Amino acid sequence: MSSDTVESTPDEERSAFETAQEEQEDVDPRTIPQTLEEPPPVGDEIEYPDYPDEDHETWQILVERQMEQLPGRACEAYMRGQDVLGLEGDRIPDLADLSRRLNEETGWEVANVPGLIHEKNFFSLLSQRKFPSTNYVRGREELDYTPAPDCFHDIFGHMPMLTQPEFADFYQLYGQAAQNAEGADRPRLERFHWFTVEFGLIQEQGEKRIFGAGIVSSNEEVTHALSDEVTLHPFDPEHIVEKDDYEVYNLQKELFVLDSFEQLVDGFRDWTSKSGLL
Ligand SMILES: [Fe+2]
Repeated sequence: MSSDTVESTPDEERSAFETAQEEQEDVDPRTIPQTLEEPPPVGDEIEYPDYPDEDHETWQILVERQMEQLPGRACEAYMRGQDVLGLEGDRIPDLADLSRRLNEETGWEVANVPGLIHEKNFFSLLSQRKFPSTNYVRGREELDYTPAPDCFHDIFGHMPMLTQPEFADFYQLYGQAAQNAEGADRPRLERFHWFTVEFGLIQEQGEKRIFGAGIVSSNEEVTHALSDEVTLHPFDPEHIVEKDDYEVYNLQKELFVLDSFEQLVDGFRDWTSKSGLL
């Protein structure tokens, strides 16, 4: 989204992300979404880059330090998804290979995109069960945080959950609903994405577990999200879509907890049908 669009958008139609971006003095060019001029390569059309060794080492560092924390904190579906995808720490995975495995599991594929993409491209790909992923890894100086997407967040953070059947169906529905959203429904859907896909928790065997990509791919957030410093709310679409005070650049103060992934897909279906989006 360009800054022109942000300035001309009324407050109630603006997301926390847009407002936070506007308040930044220097906008990182990597955070300005690009419009795709043509369909991105999908599945076997994706070529594996000739990565320098340093990139594989960065991937390895990122995977190894997250894996020290995730067992016992990430939900079962996420951990199983890692196995299904064959995610390992020794080298950056091949998107074509991941796409094949995802497709066998839940019918999702991977589309290789150049960075942050315009929301209309993003929602269109999701609605077709295609997950937009970058193929470059962050620089060594950004191990803890990068404002732009990179393949560690996209692959390690997002893809394991796409092997979970209800989550996989929900995410396609999300893309379909978002394509229909106008006005204040746009930031409402962005909040829904934030508190589920990116920062969602789930109750499992009497404990809170992580499934949000923004948590599983962040070194600090994994332990913070499950600590006493966070106020937890039961999953409630009506509450989530009006929660406009989330932290874009800091650790999260409030999170929502699902009972099951069925609750996610059913709750989203109910809310979108009440709102006339699906
Ligand atoms: Fe993400």
